[in-house]
Amino acid sequence: MAADPLLASPVAPAAPARPRPPAGARPVAPAELTGVELLAGLPWTALQELATQAQRCSFRPGQLVFREGDQGDSLHIVTTGLLSVVRPSRDPGLILQRLGPGDVFGEVGVLNSAPRLASVVAVDSSETVEVRKEHLDSVLLADPQAMRHMLGTLALSLTLAKEELARHNSKLESKVRERTQDLRESQLELVRRLAHAAESRDDSTGIHITRMSRMCAQLARDIGMTHDEAEQLMHASSMHDIGKIAIPDSVLLKPGPLSPEEWEVMKSHTEVGAQLLSGSRSPVVRMAEVIARTHHEKWDGTGYPDGLAGEQIPLVARICAVCDVFDALVSDRPYKDAWLVEDALAEIARLGATHLDPSLARLFVERRPDLRAGE
Ligand SMILES: [Fe+2]
Repeated sequence: MAADPLLASPVAPAAPARPRPPAGARPVAPAELTGVELLAGLPWTALQELATQAQRCSFRPGQLVFREGDQGDSLHIVTTGLLSVVRPSRDPGLILQRLGPGDVFGEVGVLNSAPRLASVVAVDSSETVEVRKEHLDSVLLADPQAMRHMLGTLALSLTLAKEELARHNSKLESKVRERTQDLRESQLELVRRLAHAAESRDDSTGIHITRMSRMCAQLARDIGMTHDEAEQLMHASSMHDIGKIAIPDSVLLKPGPLSPEEWEVMKSHTEVGAQLLSGSRSPVVRMAEVIARTHHEKWDGTGYPDGLAGEQIPLVARICAVCDVFDALVSDRPYKDAWLVEDALAEIARLGATHLDPSLARLFVERRPDLRAGE
């Protein structure tokens, strides 16, 4: 196969001379024109007329058929060989299309003489049947019915092309949605794994994180948050204690009471967690940063690290605080046994006056959490 001479440089060679028909070329049959979608609907008499005037052309390897920017004046049907479509001005080095027997090119040229949008060059020895614009014009002018056939064909092609485009766009959109969902799933899985890794040092089952984050989503729905917001909170709340990653075992796993110094170290998990999660563009991680920093703030302002009070504490953190305290109460810890659910609910109600947002605490007790979540 010969190299495409137009691929190497955007500078076009001189305009091609019109090829002469090969010596002894056989006449063009009307049936050879029916492969051209534009002409396929023409009456047989019109095709016969066009076939009489159509011309066989042969091209040597490397020879230009026409050049980008030339005035369009004919279409070609490839009968033998191989040709390339290239656009040196905009896509140097790129073959836009390969054309072989049966392919048609240059249709726009016989409709409106517009400049050629691309160049076509023979790769191998090739032969085409050329239908010239002036011949098509005379056939159409002499036969209004043929003109209507052609317009009908064009209108149908346009309609089908629009439908195909709509189908293609719809497929693309659903693919993008799928990919986005996949990406989101894998990001959330990483988040879950990270959260569990942080939690696994003092909760080997990871049940606290799973159960607490699902209770957060439930309470969020109970106060009227949307499904998406509640789901976002479920993922974000699972990272509330991620800062524990930086707390030494001697403090985190100490069975007895902490000394004042150890307590300061323990409290730092809020700021460390927020630091770890800061600067993200993900809405889930940004929410997680807020929760990590503020989930130990108390309604009466006696919490840490900033001593925020009442509605100064972000709502998502107030929701997490209720669920975190409740789940801690009903869980076994190195320093205590699990409380009975009724006792834990009574404690939540009591803490509503001091530690927790009172209306959230009341609602939580009324609705009773579903402790099966996460099992
Ligand atoms: Fe915490």
